[in-house]
Amino acid sequence: MKEDTKQQTMKDRYRNGGMNMFEQLDSKDLQIKPVEMFGSDWMALTAGNEEEGYNAMTIAWGQIGTLWERETHANRLPVATCFVRPSRYTKTFIDREKSFTLCLLPKEHKKALGILGSRSGRDGNKIAEAGLTPVFDGKMTYFKESELVLFCHVLYHAPLLEEGFTDRDLVDFNYPKRDFHTMYVGEIVKAYRKKAD
Ligand SMILES: Cc1cc2nc3c(=O)[nH]c(=O)nc-3n(C[C@H](O)[C@H](O)[C@H](O)COP(=O)(O)O)c2cc1C
Repeated sequence: MKEDTKQQTMKDRYRNGGMNMFEQLDSKDLQIKPVEMFGSDWMALTAGNEEEGYNAMTIAWGQIGTLWERETHANRLPVATCFVRPSRYTKTFIDREKSFTLCLLPKEHKKALGILGSRSGRDGNKIAEAGLTPVFDGKMTYFKESELVLFCHVLYHAPLLEEGFTDRDLVDFNYPKRDFHTMYVGEIVKAYRKKAD
């Protein structure tokens, strides 16, 4: 890497340094409107880390809720579920790390989500093009510009099965090429909210 590019890259990156801009919150205290958050605002899904590489893509399909229990039956796990088509470069990072983050960006970054959602990280640095700043947090990455970040460990992943659909029209409309999404159920292990100014 050229020295000036390297310096610029280092300047633009944060290593957990973003944390003082965020406060950690209990997933029980999440105040979100999931249908709006995924369906209309969209989210950035990131996977990977600084050392081994990372990528991000836009998602509009997802759910937040609870699933399964660990140790006690009252301990219902907070989860985020998302759906990733096999062609997405980001999928290779989720499968390698078994983790991902979901970043909710303020409205002024909608254009950035358009870029993350229309170009592949295989073809260039779309994160820089989108003007987003990666923050590295252990084995995970999020964006400094986020107003909410959900850190998720994959508990379960499997491709959707054609025979599971009761409404056949959905298959023909969404999967003319039969490239079914892989469903990832991630335990929300940490949540950050941007501190008020
Ligand atoms: C609004 C919007 C929502 C999207 N939602 C999803 C989604 O839920 N799942 C998915 O696999 N792709 C979704 N995409 C497509 C990916 O974001 C897109 O293919 C992206 O370029 C993949 O990048 P990558 O190859 O760098 O991983 C969406 C795109 C947009 C613009």
